[in-house]
Amino acid sequence: MSAPQEGWVRVAAVGEIPEGSAIAVRVKDREIALYHVEEGGFYATENVCTHEYAQLSEGWLEGYEIECPLHAGRFDVRTGKALCPPVEENVRTCEVRIRDGDVFVRCVS
Ligand code: FES
Repeated sequence: MSAPQEGWVRVAAVGEIPEGSAIAVRVKDREIALYHVEEGGFYATENVCTHEYAQLSEGWLEGYEIECPLHAGRFDVRTGKALCPPVEENVRTCEVRIRDGDVFVRCVS
């Protein structure tokens, strides 16, 4: 297996995350939600909702949308875009790469 490039962190094996679900992972000092979209691949965002304190990895993933478990705000996991009230602020996204059956995440901003 070739070494991941600068900033990439291995967070899970592909097989650990069933399609249509999300898990909480750590990338350096950040809490990240890693999503496995049904037939859509892997995406990552900050795990903490931009509304109040809730973990998006505990929410419901439907297609490319994650619904916050606390007040049902929704975000597009591809872009982090806030989709409906009460969330107004987008959530930050991270890059995801699959290599040799492992999931790597890199958060640059
Ligand atoms: S904490 Fe996420 S919608 Fe309120």
